[in-house]
Amino acid sequence: MAKPQTVYYCQNCGAQHPKWQGQCHSCKEWNTLVEEIISKSSKKTWQSSSAKNNKTKLPKASKLSDISFEIEDRIKTKDEELNRVLGGGIVKGSLVLLGGEPGIGKSTLLLQLCLNLPVKSLYISGEESSKQIKMRAERIQKSNDNCFILADTSTQRIFNQINKIEPELVIVDSIQTLHTEVIESSPGSISQIRTCTAELIKYAKETNTPVLLIGHINKEGHLAGPKILEHMVDTVLQFEGDQNFIYRIVRVQKNRFGSTNELGIYEMQTNGLKQILNPSKILISNQEHDLSGTSIAATLEGMRPLMIEIQALVSTAVYGTPQRSSTGYNAKRLNMILAVLEKRAGFKLGTKDVFLNITGGINIDDPAIDLAVIAAILSSSHDIVLNYRYCFAAEIGLAGEVRPVPRLEQRIAEADKLGFEKIFIAHNTKTSKNNVQLEIIKLKSVVDLVEYLF
Ligand code: TYD
Ligand code: MG
Repeated sequence: MAKPQTVYYCQNCGAQHPKWQGQCHSCKEWNTLVEEIISKSSKKTWQSSSAKNNKTKLPKASKLSDISFEIEDRIKTKDEELNRVLGGGIVKGSLVLLGGEPGIGKSTLLLQLCLNLPVKSLYISGEESSKQIKMRAERIQKSNDNCFILADTSTQRIFNQINKIEPELVIVDSIQTLHTEVIESSPGSISQIRTCTAELIKYAKETNTPVLLIGHINKEGHLAGPKILEHMVDTVLQFEGDQNFIYRIVRVQKNRFGSTNELGIYEMQTNGLKQILNPSKILISNQEHDLSGTSIAATLEGMRPLMIEIQALVSTAVYGTPQRSSTGYNAKRLNMILAVLEKRAGFKLGTKDVFLNITGGINIDDPAIDLAVIAAILSSSHDIVLNYRYCFAAEIGLAGEVRPVPRLEQRIAEADKLGFEKIFIAHNTKTSKNNVQLEIIKLKSVVDLVEYLF
């Protein structure tokens, strides 16, 4: 028996090294090399029937103008959110990677997709048995004779089944559980992930069948395995949300066939994930509330306008150092806002505890919610209830000035659609008042807001 060969792979770029070293010679990252044993076997991997018969033709360079162009062929799913995120459906022959924390609902989302698809699909699971998948399908309350289930992890056996079934869509749950017999390292190792993905890409491109891969993420929230995995696939989706909340968001990190600004929102229910086509309505909790400390921001998530509720609680600090805590909003930005309120508007919040929460467990990076954050904090601090038909969309600068934000027209249109009466924005913004009912109020600085509301 041949002696097993040991090589070292870089976890960042996937480069191979004959011996261990501190720094990867290819991407120059430190401490990223891991040891793996490989022994080459003569076992075959994916091969299309045409490739078996003909000798592969050599590729020939051609003029750009001679290349025929067709609009990519897409499979439209019943899931409108997923269609939009993917840029209008699943592109045939593409590889899509869906990453997310354990238990977030990746398997549920993709099984649901198969169960709703009119074309023949194959769901391959290396994590659950066929019975467990059946139980999940029962929970989703769907059955579909076009959906085939295979519980296996060896790519050779999987391709064998694929050749028999000839599905039009393949789902792999998850790429970390697959192993190919061509190399000998254990499943989940860098060389296995890389080789299995390469085999799947070859299969997808040769047969024009889309493959959807589920990927685990590591502690830092990055996709587990080599960085090169994300370079190899056509589309990378991230499934996120707080496990304690029912909302789930699919974000696009990379898409060769569409925009990366799209976003899909779902709600996890007892019978699977439901699409939320009008998220603003749900995220604004109880519209008729009479509590101080809540305000509504007109924000954008990707390209979608979204109305979200912000809650603040300002109370006298019990201990010497006041507490500042925020959920869903950058804590540093909260400190900055408090400093602006103190310095530019004369509010003494230095001795107060301030808690901030964005409802629905969603993280918002959009600076346009600054004004709503200020409104919520002042509302709680003064114990004055804000009109629930007012909303806010502006950024706050260090001088306390109210600054304009991008895509304001879209935000105004959404607020108008949902029946808001007033929207507070920056004074130096151009707005066309066409067909909107709501009143637009332009502010110069935080002081203007205070005068208007309190
Ligand atoms: P799952 O798809 O297994 O997550 P992942 O594949 O990302 O690890 O989903 C797990 C959670 O979803 C689990 O805690 C139970 C919950 N769930 C529901 O609430 N309703 C359902 O209909 C299903 C199938 C799962
Ligand atoms: Mg799963």
